[in-house]
Amino acid sequence: EIEKQEYRDRIKSLLKEKNAVLVAHYYTDPEIQALAEETGGCVADSLEMARFGNQHAADTLIVAGVKFMGETAKILTPEKTVLMPTLEATCSLDLGCPIKEFSEFCDQHPDHTVVVYANTSAAVKARADWVVTSSIALDVIEYIDAQGKPIIWGPDRHLGGYINKQTGADMLLWNGECIVHDEFSAKALLDLKNVYPDAAILVHPESPASVVELADAVGSTSQLIAASTKMENDTFIVATDRGIFYKMQQANPEKTFIEAPTGGNGATCKSCAHCPWMAMNGLKAIEEALTDATGHEVFVAETLAEQAMKPLTKMLNFAA
Ligand code: 13P
Ligand code: SF4
Repeated sequence: EIEKQEYRDRIKSLLKEKNAVLVAHYYTDPEIQALAEETGGCVADSLEMARFGNQHAADTLIVAGVKFMGETAKILTPEKTVLMPTLEATCSLDLGCPIKEFSEFCDQHPDHTVVVYANTSAAVKARADWVVTSSIALDVIEYIDAQGKPIIWGPDRHLGGYINKQTGADMLLWNGECIVHDEFSAKALLDLKNVYPDAAILVHPESPASVVELADAVGSTSQLIAASTKMENDTFIVATDRGIFYKMQQANPEKTFIEAPTGGNGATCKSCAHCPWMAMNGLKAIEEALTDATGHEVFVAETLAEQAMKPLTKMLNFAA
């Protein structure tokens, strides 16, 4: 604990010294979220992280999350230094959507509007007409569908399937998944609901359709936090990364939040409701990045960044 306090103190003075601000995702460890709040940074979903970094006057952004969030920040604000606690923190959706294959898929359907999730590489974003996050995906697809255009959606097949069901849009889906949400089990969730019959079920749409079907509210991380405050239930079963409990509990100290069960148990589940890449962000790594940027700074090739900036700017404008 003494060591942690030392890291916190060091980070606070380094943030000031470098005119830097900490931008953290809801899935990072509670101590990182608390530090971001305490130091005037932000804790947010991926859309709001992008917007905050874009609007903030700091010279340096330190992005605690996964690679695509750091890259998005760099693409939107190339004049800023963007640091990450580790550049190794990726995302299974990004890994499962290599640019070469995805681009070939798009080339096969040239009449389709290409919509990609923010959880992708800069190269995949550069190939897209639209970039969306889960908080605006439905609205953007509805907007494109209203113009009668067929859509390529990548990479999350569960989120794509959910949107497809909601909108009836003409969509071709890439076959990617989030290893964290894919593990939530409808059968185990039903069993848990029998134990807590009055609990409301909150589900992130990266979860399988069978889990989404059981939800009382479906949405992005920020939408789920809002639902946990708005809904009057005392107890909530939450199907998303457990990092979100920090904010849910902070906003609703009197309510009880329970993790939705995964198919495996502690010994067999791969991620157990916590993203292994989000977990790579720690106080020590933040302190290191602010002390010496070597190996922590995010760079995006200029031509890719210029191209990817277009759909990212469109995303921020659409959501404004
Ligand atoms: P949100 O945009 O809902 O924060 O989701 C980001 C993410 O990585 C979900 O797994
Ligand atoms: Fe990617 Fe899933 Fe981790 Fe989010 S939780 S960063 S979608 S692997």
